Amino acid sequence: AGHASATPAMPLKIMSENISLLAVEALPAGNPHAVLFRLPNLSPKTAVVAATLTAEPFEAELVPGKKTVVWAYNRNIPGPLIEAFEGDTVEIRFVNKLAQASTIHWHGMPVPADQDGNPQDAVPPGGERLYRFTLPAGSAGTYWYHPHPHGDTPEQVYRGLAGLFIVRAKDDVLRHLAEQHLVISDLRLDSDVSIPDNDRNDWMNGREGQFALVNGQREPVITVGAVQRWRIWNACSARYLRLAVPSRKIILVGSDGGLLERAQIVDELLLAPGERAEWIVAGPEGDASLMALAYDRSKMGKVAPERDMKLASIKFTQDSVAKLPERLRTLPPKIKPVAKKRVVFSEIMSMEGGQHGMQFLVNGKGYDMKRVDLTSRVGETELWEIVNDSHMDHPFHIHGTQFEILDTTLKGKTISAPWRAHKDTFNLKPYQSARILITQKHRGLRMFHCHILEHEGLGMMGQVLVK
Ligand code: C2O
Ligand code: CU
Ligand code: CU
Repeated sequence: AGHASATPAMPLKIMSENISLLAVEALPAGNPHAVLFRLPNLSPKTAVVAATLTAEPFEAELVPGKKTVVWAYNRNIPGPLIEAFEGDTVEIRFVNKLAQASTIHWHGMPVPADQDGNPQDAVPPGGERLYRFTLPAGSAGTYWYHPHPHGDTPEQVYRGLAGLFIVRAKDDVLRHLAEQHLVISDLRLDSDVSIPDNDRNDWMNGREGQFALVNGQREPVITVGAVQRWRIWNACSARYLRLAVPSRKIILVGSDGGLLERAQIVDELLLAPGERAEWIVAGPEGDASLMALAYDRSKMGKVAPERDMKLASIKFTQDSVAKLPERLRTLPPKIKPVAKKRVVFSEIMSMEGGQHGMQFLVNGKGYDMKRVDLTSRVGETELWEIVNDSHMDHPFHIHGTQFEILDTTLKGKTISAPWRAHKDTFNLKPYQSARILITQKHRGLRMFHCHILEHEGLGMMGQVLVK
């Protein structure tokens, strides 16, 4: 059935409650941390990055000796890493060899609306198109790309379609440091090593598999000699990552949209689905673990309790000390907003099609790709109050620009943002709200939504038309 423009009825597939899953031990652990495949630049011109991304199903060997059908970009899981500098023009030819329509959305990047892989611009099965955009000054940061077709985004991502994009600044003060890239993704494998469809619970709570992988591997070993810069992506559909390296501190230097102004020393860092971070990692010599500590987000129905999970081993082979400049970056001054918007996430129980399920709403409505929910003016700074009026966590995300969080409010208590940062995804705890400053730099239609992909797929998405 084709997709109607209104919110799809909840695609509840009531599956057997106990699909038997592959034992976690079936996936080998303890291999050296994998280097991401870098997409070669085919352009002979300077300041142009040109390449092709082909989305297609193929048989991957995730479990030794067994074949799993995945959908991937250029047969890579995770998808290839694209690197470019501020000022570069990016030309990516997208070839869709899936049996479904798809798009490539450049998550967090300031690309024109008609190049941003909106659901309205889907490339049909067998089709192709060119995405072309120039990266402006100030856009350096840690981004990713993934499909964004209407309704099918969750499936295309959990079957393997997601890749990475780093935009670099020529004058980056940390450019001398060696980098490690950690893409944390989620995988569910059936006992026959196939990737099962979403079940009812996934559509309510967001899909989590039994494996949280780092660059496609279970519990790899990351070696740290001299001081390193890490870029970390939460590319999971719904898994929250409360990251910690027990008995060590985290030196946080960057978020979604590039460097912070100053390094921040923290014990742990919550990365909600879609968020990224940059860390500086240094000795002392010794062994450590990268953990995802239990994060209790409220879930519906019968779900297993949250547990701490080891993501990777870290071997520090020498004592090293991070010496960082006092100031990493100077963010442009905050601009006084000229307009206000309010966005409310909520969920209700519904009986649609005779099936008992949930509806996920923005300002009381499910997503309609033909409806404009809000309008903004290009270049104008707005104050958005984003509100989670529900008992589940929902990460708010908006396309086309970065925003800055001013403060958050929970149970009547308002707390100022602990530091300035450029963000495109921010988690709202149950009944929490946040005030953000946001400026769209291109005209056109932009989506904003919950980045638990199942919630987005079920309609927790709205559209702002930038005029
Ligand atoms: Cu990664 Cu519309 O999002
Ligand atoms: Cu996005
Ligand atoms: Cu959500």
